[in-house]
Amino acid sequence: MINITKLIKQRQQYTTILEDNSKLYIRPIDELDEITFSGEYLIQKNGKLKKKLIQFYEHIMVYSKKKHLNILNATLLLHLTNLNEIEGLKFIKSGNSIELYNNASELYLYVRKYCIQREIPERYKITQTIYYGSNATFLQLESTLYIKTFHVAKIYEKQNYTTQDQISGIKKEVQILRQLQHQHMSNLVEIFENDDLIFLIMEELKGESLQTILENQQYLNENQIKLIMKPLFECVAFLHSKNIFHRDIKPQNIKFRHSDNYLEACLIEFSLADYWNKNGRYLFTRCGSVGYVAPEVLQDKKYILNIDVYSLGIILYILITQKHPFEDLDKGKKILRNYNGQVDYSILQCSQILLDLIKKCLEVDFTKRLSCQEILSHPFFSNRIPKLLSFKIKDQKKSTQIKTQRGQNFHSVNNLAYDQSTNSLSQSKSPSSFVSYRHSLTLQKQKTVFPEISIFQPKSKYFLTKNSQYESLN
Ligand SMILES: Nc1ncnc2c1ncn2[C@@H]1O[C@H](COP(=O)(O)OP(=O)(O)O)[C@@H](O)[C@H]1O
Ligand SMILES: [Mg+2]
Repeated sequence: MINITKLIKQRQQYTTILEDNSKLYIRPIDELDEITFSGEYLIQKNGKLKKKLIQFYEHIMVYSKKKHLNILNATLLLHLTNLNEIEGLKFIKSGNSIELYNNASELYLYVRKYCIQREIPERYKITQTIYYGSNATFLQLESTLYIKTFHVAKIYEKQNYTTQDQISGIKKEVQILRQLQHQHMSNLVEIFENDDLIFLIMEELKGESLQTILENQQYLNENQIKLIMKPLFECVAFLHSKNIFHRDIKPQNIKFRHSDNYLEACLIEFSLADYWNKNGRYLFTRCGSVGYVAPEVLQDKKYILNIDVYSLGIILYILITQKHPFEDLDKGKKILRNYNGQVDYSILQCSQILLDLIKKCLEVDFTKRLSCQEILSHPFFSNRIPKLLSFKIKDQKKSTQIKTQRGQNFHSVNNLAYDQSTNSLSQSKSPSSFVSYRHSLTLQKQKTVFPEISIFQPKSKYFLTKNSQYESLN
């Protein structure tokens, strides 16, 4: 018989933030949604092993009609063979436990994000330090169980999180990440917690951040902008379908999944994400980053999910103009412009269709602003080929020049080429991922980077008063 009692004893020594007092065995739930995972497992009962079909509805395990288990925040212990294969799993919560064996590695891949593991990553080796932030440290890890699989660990030092709000903030982030799984975000893989640290193991995004691209003043044409932005709108629409908003969308929190193309932009940093609610009160109500936040947030109005649409609209604006709409040397004026949503559309040199989209995203009256889903139905995203007939590039120096085989100058539109002399689109033999063009780009470098000022985040120093002055909270 498999014995993992030793590991269970060790577990008693840990103090925990993430664990709650909920029971492992719960009253049967009548209405469960879809089965999200199922399999036949050997279960230990009265010292004997019994084969049983187990079904999961998210974190609810249906053992029988009469017996349901809630594995959320249960301690998960792994039984590994000498060859480091996962043979069995044990779930422990509130003094109760259950053990499952047989093909447990697949089950482990499913349950790991719902549970908490204690043995901080013996199963990972640190390969690189990515980022030391004031809130968390980011490491790149390589799995020792799954060869050549890299992840990122977001590590919280528990001693820095002492107030109830700070602890609730981490719990909320974990709760929201568990609920979300999308191709265009950094997904949660598993969670470890010991006395000192919390490790959120996330999918690794290998590409650079959108901020880096903006800092390089890289010219992007409309189809490239569409390729970058559509995944982000899709991801945000997915979040909104779950009644969740991100609340801190900005170029620094957008990262590309791959290092060799820009086709999969992903959202990162869900520490300010929350569930929209009618009363408009949140753990952090006034939050976001100046320059990207929707005016109604600064105006202390009860905002709705489409604050994220506004932030995406700002990013669209920057991608086209390489300028921030609220740019001003005077910080106070900059905030005031953001507060009033004062956007100068006259400098936008783009197609009417894209101009219309940006205006819809940056609509100051949020009751009139479109939802993310509605934005995805806008012709800019729904048309297969963007109508570029009115697409003009006034500043030639800023444009991307690519010499084609015919020796003409083309502005690349991904695998389409836009012939400036004829105003027409033609299929080119160019590679489909536009990053491969980057070496042949002629770029004009300017420094117009909008400095990041975070407001009302847990670590923030500033808040905006009614007469638009900065005041330090310290
Ligand atoms: N999934 C990931 N893959 C690779 N790098 C990441 C990932 N998540 C975050 N990072 C890196 O860590 C940095 C900080 O991440 P973020 O979640 O935005 O935290 P912060 O609160 O410090 O801004 C990012 O700029 C990025 O470089
Ligand atoms: Mg960030």
